[in-house]
Amino acid sequence: MRKKISVIGGGNVGATTALFLAEKHLGDVVLTDIVEGMPQGKGLDMLETAPIRGYHGAITGTNDYKDIEGSNVVVVTAGLPRKPGMSRSDLLGMNAKIVGQVCENVKKFAPDAVVIVVSNPLDIMCYHALKVTGFDSRRIVGMAGVLDAARMRCFIAAELGVHPADVIAMVLGGHGDSMVPLATGTSVSGIPVTQLIAPDRLEAIFERTRKGGGEIVSLLKTGSAFYAPAASVAEMAESIILDGKRVLPCAAWLTGQYGISGAFVGVPVRLGASGIEQVYEMKLTDAELKALQVSADAVKADMKALDEMAKA
Ligand code: NAI
Ligand code: 2OP
Repeated sequence: MRKKISVIGGGNVGATTALFLAEKHLGDVVLTDIVEGMPQGKGLDMLETAPIRGYHGAITGTNDYKDIEGSNVVVVTAGLPRKPGMSRSDLLGMNAKIVGQVCENVKKFAPDAVVIVVSNPLDIMCYHALKVTGFDSRRIVGMAGVLDAARMRCFIAAELGVHPADVIAMVLGGHGDSMVPLATGTSVSGIPVTQLIAPDRLEAIFERTRKGGGEIVSLLKTGSAFYAPAASVAEMAESIILDGKRVLPCAAWLTGQYGISGAFVGVPVRLGASGIEQVYEMKLTDAELKALQVSADAVKADMKALDEMAKA
């Protein structure tokens, strides 16, 4: 039976994700938005691209959540993007409302789906999705680490003049300024990055990675990045749909790993048909572990702010 992936939010990230998913031949794609006609128009435009690009699945656009019924994967991109001067946390109240509405519908119409959350502030929206859907936490997975690591892989590749695909990198922690780019485990085809790049240059690359989203916001001025985010989602969705067992940095609900409990934090996980199948605990340096715990504390502070907003 053909698989089905629904993408909620047909804006920059959502529409690009739908296209990348179609190009991966993973199944039928449903693009959903509240704006009338927009997802239908984008869906039809993508369908008409199929003869040229060679994909064959159905791509439909809709304003009706009933159409997401039976989805194997639901990608949540609905919400406002950052504008210059805004942090991801500034989006908290506005996007919590939107993601809450979306997740009520996911619970109703796609109760068996694995949910990939993209909307910002990412780790907090994962927590919100967990609460609203009531799903098993292994079926809620946040997209951030694949993107942040892709940025770091690009910067390392440019520094060394090597192919970006040969750079392996991990960025853990929350998807914010406290994210933790790791030297541990970062390599060029297995050669530790610390043997190839001097500490001061490596630290500059880590800092550019931490600010990678903001660098694009300040150039675009009217929104945030979407090509690399959409490619990151498509890589995660592929591993779930094909039971691919990819090991990728994703936001996962932690229950004591790395000394962290009760928060979504970016860590290496194995992604398969049922969602997060395993969280890997890497042996980090003391400084890396401390930074990861500090990052988790920043996530928890925003979770508390969300809980207080809900009470008010
Ligand atoms: P966008 O503004 O282009 O698209 C958002 C879409 O959501 C709009 O089409 C809007 O109509 C739709 N929408 C709003 N309320 C809705 C609702 N209740 N139901 C369905 N659709 C609804 O924004 P963009 O650039 O696509 O970003 C989307 C979100 O993803 C933002 O919150 C952004 O910060 C986040 N993001 C997260 C990344 C990550 O690494 N986790 C990377 C890039 C973006
Ligand atoms: C990014 O990192 C905005 O979170 C988004 O590009």
